[in-house]
Amino acid sequence: MVERIGTTCVQGGWRPGDGEPRQVPIYQNTTWKYDTSEHMGRLFDLEESGYFYTRLANPTNDAVAAKIAELEGGAAAMLTSSGQAANFFAVFNIAGAGDHVVASSAIYGGTYNLLAHTMKRMGLECTFVDPHCTDEELKAAFRPNTKCVFGETIANPALAVLDIERFAAAAHGHGVPLIVDNTFPTPVLCRPIEWGADIVTHSTTKYMDGHGASVGGVIVDSGRFNWNAHADKFPGLTTPDESYHGVVYTERFGLEGAYITKATAQLMRDLGSIQSPQNAFLI
Ligand SMILES: Cc1ncc(COP(=O)(O)O)c(C=O)c1O
Repeated sequence: MVERIGTTCVQGGWRPGDGEPRQVPIYQNTTWKYDTSEHMGRLFDLEESGYFYTRLANPTNDAVAAKIAELEGGAAAMLTSSGQAANFFAVFNIAGAGDHVVASSAIYGGTYNLLAHTMKRMGLECTFVDPHCTDEELKAAFRPNTKCVFGETIANPALAVLDIERFAAAAHGHGVPLIVDNTFPTPVLCRPIEWGADIVTHSTTKYMDGHGASVGGVIVDSGRFNWNAHADKFPGLTTPDESYHGVVYTERFGLEGAYITKATAQLMRDLGSIQSPQNAFLI
């Protein structure tokens, strides 16, 4: 039976077994207890899945992220402390100094500033294109060092609608993923992955929260972009991460897990923008 989206909104991500809590519990803890230091070592080395520090992952956050991944039709997701953090992590996970991004010019002002100014100071350049530009104009925006395309499903505040299929085709034609900020419609009204987007972000602060109760963000990975087919563009995913015992994310976690695991194990570890479990519960 195909589950209706209203059911996923209520039940998704947390399916308790017999005698388990009906509502997702708030794991209001920073750390966990282990019987052996070897057990913790295996978790730390990403050899076993589990929890060891809430700055990287927490069961409440994971249940909410899993719900949103189900709603968007994605393979994996992570919560961030805000929508700004979600968009920063989504781009910075695959692009850095010396790289280039193509972005729709009709996006939220905060994201425009992030890409045009703050990330520029980090060595990343961005070319903005009108979402209604011609195919030739879109094609002309790409450079050999372009690492992704970014747009908003319905732009804040211009309300311009992104032709996701057209932007996805252009991105894929240049061997890079399309990142779509789906804050305005939410997956109830539009699921960008179904139209070709590879990565979806949200400011959950808005309609996803719906009560004005908590600032938050989420990144959902479709698991469909083939990082290995464009390995030269994405060495961060396809070659050893020296900061994490030489793990190769695509090898260890596959195409469905590589992107979100890297963003968690590396970016969340170093930049620390985890959402509080209390806020996750409120979402
Ligand atoms: C489309 C969009 N993306 C991202 C953001 C940033 O989200 P946050 O305020 O949760 O950091 C906003 C905020 O207004 C937004 O409207």
